[in-house]
Amino acid sequence: MESLQTVVNSWNDFDTLRHVIVGRADLTCIPPSEPATEAKIPSNSDMRGMWGPRPLATIEKANEQLDSLTCLLEGRGIRVDRPTPIQWNQAVVTPDFSTQSMFGCMPPRDVLLTVGKEILSAPMSFRCRYWEYLAYHTLMQQYFDDDPEFRWEQAPRPRLTDRSYKAGYFDDITIEERLERTAMLDFVTTEDEPLFDAADVLRIGKDLFCQHGLTTNRRGMKWLQRHFPNHRIHVVNFPGDPYPIHIDATFVPLRPGLIMNNPNRRLPEDQRKIFAANDWEIVDAARPAHNSPPPLCYSSVWLSMNVLILDHKTVVVEASENYQMDQFYELGFEVLPLAFRDAYPFGGGLHCATADVLRVGDCEDYFPNQVPGTQIS
Ligand code: ALA
Repeated sequence: MESLQTVVNSWNDFDTLRHVIVGRADLTCIPPSEPATEAKIPSNSDMRGMWGPRPLATIEKANEQLDSLTCLLEGRGIRVDRPTPIQWNQAVVTPDFSTQSMFGCMPPRDVLLTVGKEILSAPMSFRCRYWEYLAYHTLMQQYFDDDPEFRWEQAPRPRLTDRSYKAGYFDDITIEERLERTAMLDFVTTEDEPLFDAADVLRIGKDLFCQHGLTTNRRGMKWLQRHFPNHRIHVVNFPGDPYPIHIDATFVPLRPGLIMNNPNRRLPEDQRKIFAANDWEIVDAARPAHNSPPPLCYSSVWLSMNVLILDHKTVVVEASENYQMDQFYELGFEVLPLAFRDAYPFGGGLHCATADVLRVGDCEDYFPNQVPGTQIS
């Protein structure tokens, strides 16, 4: 495809998409257990106790679907760049910790946070993901050379010592106890240093809504507030989620004024006020079409709502998610179905598998009526 001039600029998840990064499944590993990853693996998961390179046949299938996503987007005139996978089956050794393997680069959304003309590598809490940003280094270098206004940034590299995690947090923990802990804001990560995953940050123009959960702490949000002084950083949490990791299968903006919430993980009343005060409607997402995720998958069935919005009227939805597609038709969207379940085990759905480079539009103030108490302080 004809290459377009590089401009980095994206303030939200719904304006017209022109340039995006789509991940790759090559060489992906299931990392060994570590203090933070216990969180992500349900006790009855087929992944318990497994680690090492993923089977080649599954990698090939995932890559076919990631390539199909690339074709679909390029067919609509959207520029797509891909990361450069590294040999993920290598140990990570720093002065503070070591772990036996890395993870992969299928979900760029987890590590790359695009805010306007800036792309920021997040200080992620998984030790196995410490070097993941390197898969995007060539692209960042290229954007830096091509776009004189591009801000190539990195949050402080976390140390990830044992002080960053609560010891024994997941020992013999039931789902009910997990839910209680989510409601009490008691997470495996401590406040020892700033930590966040980019996928915990919901960008809606001037306001960034951050999920306080297993992968993002308050110190991380405070760092974001100081780093983006012209933005308002709001703390949100979803007590119905036993595995509160990443906001994009929980709370998904569809277009200005409309947001979709996972009905099992509703935003608490006091945190809804800012949406009501600014005439934003929150609708329940449709139920997923599946009762269980595909094999060796970290995520829940709610990847049904992990969609990629191309503009205010067009959305890419996983092809078997018929209820979610129907809801989008009813909401007036053109739906582009795409088979993607073989990619899920590699790090999530259509939103996870992408990271914004350019969406047409400016930094709007969608929430001029602020509500006291929601911003990080
Ligand atoms: N944590 C998200 C879910 O699986 C991606 O629901």
